[in-house]
Amino acid sequence: MELVNSVLNFVVPPASLVMLACAWPALTFINTCEWLYNTFFGDDMEDKVVIITGASSGIGEQIAYEYAKRRTNLVLVARRENRLWGIREKARQLGAKNVLITAADVVKEDDCRRFITETVNFYGRVDHLVNTVSLGHTFYLEEATDTNVFPILMDINFWGNVYPTYVALPYLRQTRGRVIVNASVENWLPLPRMSLYSAAKAAVINFYETLKLEVKDDVGITIATHGWIGTEITRGKLMMDEGADMQWKEEREVRASGSSVEEFAKLIVAGACRGDPYVKYPGWYDIFLLYRVFAPNVLQWTFRMLFAHQGARRTSFIGTARPLRETSPSSSPSPASSSPQRLGGPIVMQDLQRLE
Ligand SMILES: NC(=O)c1ccc[n+]([C@@H]2O[C@H](COP(=O)([O-])OP(=O)(O)OC[C@H]3O[C@@H](n4cnc5c(N)ncnc54)[C@H](OP(=O)(O)O)[C@@H]3O)[C@@H](O)[C@H]2O)c1
Repeated sequence: MELVNSVLNFVVPPASLVMLACAWPALTFINTCEWLYNTFFGDDMEDKVVIITGASSGIGEQIAYEYAKRRTNLVLVARRENRLWGIREKARQLGAKNVLITAADVVKEDDCRRFITETVNFYGRVDHLVNTVSLGHTFYLEEATDTNVFPILMDINFWGNVYPTYVALPYLRQTRGRVIVNASVENWLPLPRMSLYSAAKAAVINFYETLKLEVKDDVGITIATHGWIGTEITRGKLMMDEGADMQWKEEREVRASGSSVEEFAKLIVAGACRGDPYVKYPGWYDIFLLYRVFAPNVLQWTFRMLFAHQGARRTSFIGTARPLRETSPSSSPSPASSSPQRLGGPIVMQDLQRLE
């Protein structure tokens, strides 16, 4: 068996690459025809019902405005209800037919059941579920001094996608609707200081790729993988739970530069309405996937060179760059808590950020 695998290791990759190169023109032609057809005859979203989780800021907020311009009925979900009121007003001005807002924690299955049931009771249907919740971080794993935050990061970034999807699926099947997922290029282009975030995003992508096989054509799935989008880190974005601030207030007033969030929101909504399985922004990041498979060392060397200096620094890449708390050998991590709600440990709160 070992011999067979050794031979296949040499034969299969080059043979597959040659086959792919030959099939590429035909595949591109078919995809282009499909794209053109869907562009002209894709989903007309007028009067359709769209639920957006994580709608209180950043990409989720802008996505709400894009759907509003298509005269949809919206349901905006986040924990900060006060933020949602203003977004609701703007969405209505932009053309949304109706806008419901609901404060919910998507990590809690009961909350997800509540807002999906409310949606169905009010509108009678669900057409698109857009998941944009997330929580990022910018600490090296070894700098974390309280492992309580580990499950919180996985909860929000992974389970925060799974629960709403699970609850909405029966209704999406009825309308042959669509789930839109905000993943990240982090899946195949991991960066230092984002280990848990990257892991969660990889899990999200594999979860939805598998779900695609299970739901077949009954429910569409659009996976967005994007690089850094310039969103504003303000007004409580860095809260892990209602009332539990992860940063000092002044630390939260940050604007991170990156690609335009408005532009990305347009792309993702257009892609979702066309039925695109993937939305990539920017698309050229895909090339790193090839490096990851065929020349992983090149990526490792590049990142090592790029981060050679940062490796020693003790401040965040983003935010106000307040120095990190020094970790001493004696401050070994506490055992992971089973309760992600338990906060206030010695973790360096200013280094948990919802950003790429
Ligand atoms: N921005 C980027 O550069 C970038 C790059 C690649 C991928 N992405 C992905 O794109 C998506 C949106 O990013 P973003 O920058 O717009 O993020 P963001 O501004 O931090 O928004 C996250 C949203 O999630 C909500 N949220 C967090 N935890 C929640 C919970 N437990 N229950 C309900 N809502 C919760 C937040 O609202 P509340 O605090 O009010 O609950 C907020 O509205 C994320 O999935 C992110 O990973 C972003």
